[in-house]
Amino acid sequence: MMEKILPIIRRKGIFEFFFQASFLVWGMFLSKLGVLVLRIRGYQLDPTVSLGGENSFSQSRKNSIFVGRNSELGRRVKLLAGFGGNIKIGQNVRIYENTIIDSHSRITIGDHTLIAPFVYITDYDHKIERGRKPLLQRGYVRENVEIGRNVWIGTKAIILKGVTIGRNSVIGAGAVVTRSVPPGCLAAGVPAKIIRKI
Ligand SMILES: CC(C)(COP(=O)(O)OP(=O)(O)OC[C@H]1O[C@@H](n2cnc3c(N)ncnc32)[C@H](O)[C@@H]1OP(=O)(O)O)[C@@H](O)C(=O)NCCC(=O)NCCS
Repeated sequence: MMEKILPIIRRKGIFEFFFQASFLVWGMFLSKLGVLVLRIRGYQLDPTVSLGGENSFSQSRKNSIFVGRNSELGRRVKLLAGFGGNIKIGQNVRIYENTIIDSHSRITIGDHTLIAPFVYITDYDHKIERGRKPLLQRGYVRENVEIGRNVWIGTKAIILKGVTIGRNSVIGAGAVVTRSVPPGCLAAGVPAKIIRKI
């Protein structure tokens, strides 16, 4: 144990080592506490889930948000399942900081998927047909979103309603995905197009 720690202390310096170690232990404690409180509140988070801090969760019905074993949600990740939404995140999924998943229908994310920082995933639009009612009172158009296993979504990508992303696919940074992507493809751009098979 000490033979592993000593080189790290030498590299970082003793003060930085203890600062980072205590930060890590405190973060793990807060994460466990956060998961426990969310479970009591009716969110289906596996006890092994880890939270980065400052996360937001909201659901309009109990058990609408599920997060599977060993998945990690980074700092300020938001899972929003209002208005009858459902979010199901599989096992060993990594979602990095500031990503928002916003459901009014159903969003599913497969095991081992990696979602970079600042991604936005939604399964609804506001109805945009012209009418007498203001936009906020016209209701929603909802279509489920399904992201397969072992997918990588690059930073600042936006995934829109009705999209399915097949297993082992990659979405480039900054893409706006308006149509489904088959398994094993690299898609990028605005709107996202398939660049090549992987
Ligand atoms: C998608 C990605 C993985 C592709 O990498 P790559 O295989 O090296 O691709 P290339 O650089 O060979 O690009 C192939 C073509 O796709 C285009 N392209 C690549 N990424 C693109 C993107 N994000 N948006 C638009 N076009 C893109 C390139 O311009 C190139 O086009 P060209 O053939 O006309 O020149 C990479 O560009 C990317 O977006 N990575 C995400 C990084 C990220 O979010 N990191 C966070 C870590 S969790």
